[in-house]
Amino acid sequence: MKQINFTLNGKPVSLEVQGQESLLTIIRTYLEQTGTKYGCGIGECGACTVLINKEPVRSCMTLAEDIEGKEIISIEGLSVDGELHPIQEAFISHDALQCGFCTSGMIMNAYGFLLQNPNPSREKIIVGMESNLCRCGAYNRIVDAIETAGKEMPKKVKL
Ligand code: FES
Ligand code: FES
Repeated sequence: MKQINFTLNGKPVSLEVQGQESLLTIIRTYLEQTGTKYGCGIGECGACTVLINKEPVRSCMTLAEDIEGKEIISIEGLSVDGELHPIQEAFISHDALQCGFCTSGMIMNAYGFLLQNPNPSREKIIVGMESNLCRCGAYNRIVDAIETAGKEMPKKVKL
């Protein structure tokens, strides 16, 4: 067993793990934060996306032993004092989800993308989001939402 220390959504976490568990397992099973979804489990769909040190990663492909000292943000960390993040607001206002299974991964990937690409073009959004899959095919509305969020995010307080 191995002790790991990291922060999740700004709160320090200290856990004993075997080390070979995925970050997705740590978040969902050990910490019972189920907003991050298990889709494919092999790095293909993006449903499990979280940010590590502000970079989007696939938590199903990230080992617990590799998160020591890192700053992790999951979907539960995006709203502040009950106020939704501009990306969450934009997903709601554009109705950018159907079953919702891909949504938290889409939002987290969009968050990492928008941090690096403020107010991007539609074409850039499509390229930046192409590795996140939506089985319901809500892609056009997802891109609409990210386009709106890209304009709103710089005006509002960021995490
Ligand atoms: S569950 Fe991680 S990429 Fe699909
Ligand atoms: S809304 Fe159902 S998978 Fe995207």
